[in-house]
Amino acid sequence: MGQSVKQVIGQVGRVYGPVIEALGVRDGMMLELVMVGDEYLVGEIIKLEGERAVIQVYEDTTGIAPLDPIYGSGMPLSVELGPGLIGNIYDGIQRPLVEIRKLSEHYIDRGIRVASLNRDTHWTFKPLLHEGDQVSGGVSIGTVRETERIEQKILVPPGTSGLLQSIASPGEYRVDEPIAQVETEEGITPLYLMHRWPIRHPRPITRRLPLEIPLITGQRVIDTLFPVARGGTVAIPGGFGTGKTMTQQAVAKWCDADIIVYIGCGERGNEMTDVLTAFPELVDPRTGKSLMERTVLIANTSNMPVSAREASIYTGATIAEYFRDQGFHVAIMADSTSRWAEALRELSGRMEEMPAEEGFPAYLPTRIAEFYERAGYVETEAGSIGSVSIIGAVSPPGGDFSEPVTQHTKRFVRCFWALDRGLANARHYPSISWLDSYSEYLLEISGWWEQNISIEWIKDRREIMDLLLREVKLQQVVKLVGPDALPDSQRFILDVCKLFKEAFLQQNAFDDIDRYSTIEKQVRMLHIIITYWRRGSTAIKRGVTLVKLKKLKVYQDILKMKFSVPNDDLSALSKIEGRLERSMDQLENIYV
Ligand SMILES: Nc1ncnc2c1ncn2[C@@H]1O[C@H](COP(=O)(O)OP(=O)(O)O)[C@@H](O)[C@H]1O
Ligand SMILES: [Mg+2]
Repeated sequence: MGQSVKQVIGQVGRVYGPVIEALGVRDGMMLELVMVGDEYLVGEIIKLEGERAVIQVYEDTTGIAPLDPIYGSGMPLSVELGPGLIGNIYDGIQRPLVEIRKLSEHYIDRGIRVASLNRDTHWTFKPLLHEGDQVSGGVSIGTVRETERIEQKILVPPGTSGLLQSIASPGEYRVDEPIAQVETEEGITPLYLMHRWPIRHPRPITRRLPLEIPLITGQRVIDTLFPVARGGTVAIPGGFGTGKTMTQQAVAKWCDADIIVYIGCGERGNEMTDVLTAFPELVDPRTGKSLMERTVLIANTSNMPVSAREASIYTGATIAEYFRDQGFHVAIMADSTSRWAEALRELSGRMEEMPAEEGFPAYLPTRIAEFYERAGYVETEAGSIGSVSIIGAVSPPGGDFSEPVTQHTKRFVRCFWALDRGLANARHYPSISWLDSYSEYLLEISGWWEQNISIEWIKDRREIMDLLLREVKLQQVVKLVGPDALPDSQRFILDVCKLFKEAFLQQNAFDDIDRYSTIEKQVRMLHIIITYWRRGSTAIKRGVTLVKLKKLKVYQDILKMKFSVPNDDLSALSKIEGRLERSMDQLENIYV
């Protein structure tokens, strides 16, 4: 199944960096994968007008000259889908970086061809169907256990249907060995452990389902205040150094998705190296296995060609959809979509297209929308349930959210985790602003919370959000007249908000316990703080002073509970609750 070179379909006319004008083009098609020059540089036809084509090249085009041949492939730019994806590290057009580095003198030598899925590995295939069974796109004909936690279903490629004429017996197979034959209307079609899918075409589904189940991230400010649903979309906008990468990595590490597709898009090379070295060492708290056993990394650092960066988010989305079609819940992290938009802008500029806002092409919003539309909670073609959630970082220049990428992204996502420079400067991490962020999934997922976790959660959450809003107004008063002008009952609101921020919202990604919190822990921590607020307010009404309240020993326990109470043993929280109630009882008894 090698990517066969078809024939010469045209010649190079002019070279504009990563974009090439081709002349005398016959037999080419829009979005066709082509090879340019005698080094066979990988490219894609992105515009076709008569015999003139524009080709986006995914490798350095130095040395390409007019009249160099252009070879067609007869197929669109596609990715290989099958066993061998998990734990792999690819560039934007799915070249396996580790294997390429073994062959390359430089980072990636030009024209190097390495199959995306290893052709030597033998996988143990277990057939599920029999000769004579009727099959159609998306149906699983068997399984391959890829890692201890991921058993891949081997799917009939979308668009193929017919009678299963033969199917391999259980045994070891390579990805490109035929394992079944389907009698279709067009004739006999062999099936393999892998199949190809064009990256710019969303894989078909039966229907979209409502988004009612949260994607639990273990990050308290997210799960409790601005939750994302499985199959949902999120933007994380933030200026340089406000914590976009840290937040995405925290979610990638601790969220309860089955598969993570992490697209490192155009950021500095060393950030990707961090991901590459950190992930294999991290252990998944739920399975005790390496987190790489559920992760596919796509790395496009700023020193790689811009076209590959442009393609990387589609490559990532296609891989994610492939796992979704097997019934998995997948989360995509894209860091950063601004670097991707800049690649679009650069390519558009090279093609001398008419620029729109800030030099971005007029189709920027359409492209952003198309990317986020690949998220969803769906019924697959074969009738199982799977999801793709997309979490994209946005890095607006100067941290100014009014620029086009942030603004357009905001139109197409339903959850917004706005990073705040002031919080980051104050070392309040994650610096997700509780005033500028929002989640439109709250209502849809609240039923799930009530059924599975706690009926008090919604009330508690509403109460703390209300306090945070009241705090803003009170802070304005304090600025004018100083804190002493406020009555104790109002100053207590400031105290409780301060406690909530320190004890709950701030979460240290480097602390072994605090780096993630189960939702059970989050719900109970929130409830303790709300209890402190409710009982404290009553106490104040009865004449207890603020100073007395803050001197309670249990106040220190509450401050420290995020670090001191391990996720797998919440009994210490019951002790804190008990102590809190008793302390409040005592205070009130003194003042009755
Ligand atoms: N949750 C967190 N816990 C501890 N430190 C954090 C956290 N989030 C961000 N930081 C600090 O902020 C720095 C910058 O974060 P980073 O994610 O690289 O920013 P960005 O990607 O927005 O440029 C990190 O190196 C780290 O020191
Ligand atoms: Mg970053």
